[in-house]
Amino acid sequence: MEQSHKTIALHANNLRKSFFHPIAVDVLKEINLTVHHGEAIAITGRSGQGKSTLLQLLGTLEDPCGGILEIAGKKVASNNKSAIRNRHLAFIFQSFHLLEDYTALDNVLMPARIARKKVSKHSQAYQHGMHLLERVGLSDRAHFNSKLLSGGEKQRVAIARALCNDPDIILADEPSGNLDKQTASNIHHLLLEFARQENKSVVIVTHDPDLASLCDQQYVLQDGLLHKQENFH
Ligand SMILES: Nc1ncnc2c1ncn2[C@@H]1O[C@H](COP(=O)(O)OP(=O)(O)OP(=O)(O)O)[C@@H](O)[C@H]1O
Ligand SMILES: [Mg+2]
Repeated sequence: MEQSHKTIALHANNLRKSFFHPIAVDVLKEINLTVHHGEAIAITGRSGQGKSTLLQLLGTLEDPCGGILEIAGKKVASNNKSAIRNRHLAFIFQSFHLLEDYTALDNVLMPARIARKKVSKHSQAYQHGMHLLERVGLSDRAHFNSKLLSGGEKQRVAIARALCNDPDIILADEPSGNLDKQTASNIHHLLLEFARQENKSVVIVTHDPDLASLCDQQYVLQDGLLHKQENFH
């Protein structure tokens, strides 16, 4: 891959995070990471090493104790972080985080609703939402209550929702952790293929080395530091 010609979507420089209650722990000590547009990054590491904490920092949901985070060329600060998050980032979680009692389509359109876009039938957002559901193979489930969907279907809805507002970067925390191995593999392939086609960057936390090896770059988080792994695929 010719990364030298690619533009940078996210850059973390010496990010640090400690927690002080109930005991003091330096979870992330000196995190340096560059994510280019369209690139898929896998982060693995043992339980409790700080993978979710790192995604929270990269997603501007938690403030670092030190260091600099730049997204789309802008330095993240307290007065611009929610604007940066809404414009450039999307999240996929292990437990799907769909709104029950809403249809699959309503869930996909939620980011558009939050951004105060029109979502009525025939609106651009509605058409886009239907298109995204079609892309994840769920057009026939668009008007199903989301709680009637299987785990794999729920995560496909979450992938479609992540794409709704055209983000630059998708942050996924063990997106297939709650699924059987075959469904997990399908979800990873779908997410990575979709992201590649749409030129989105993905930072994906996973426990599965096979799935990590599908990404362009792999890192292991250990003792508060990211260690780059060679990728032989
Ligand atoms: N808000 C918090 N306050 C105090 N400690 C916290 C807080 N959030 C996380 N920690 C601690 O930080 C460490 C890293 O947690 P984190 O959830 O990021 O790990 P992880 O690598 O995602 O683990 P897993 O693979 O089990 O999901 C843990 O020791 C955890 O107890
Ligand atoms: Mg975690």
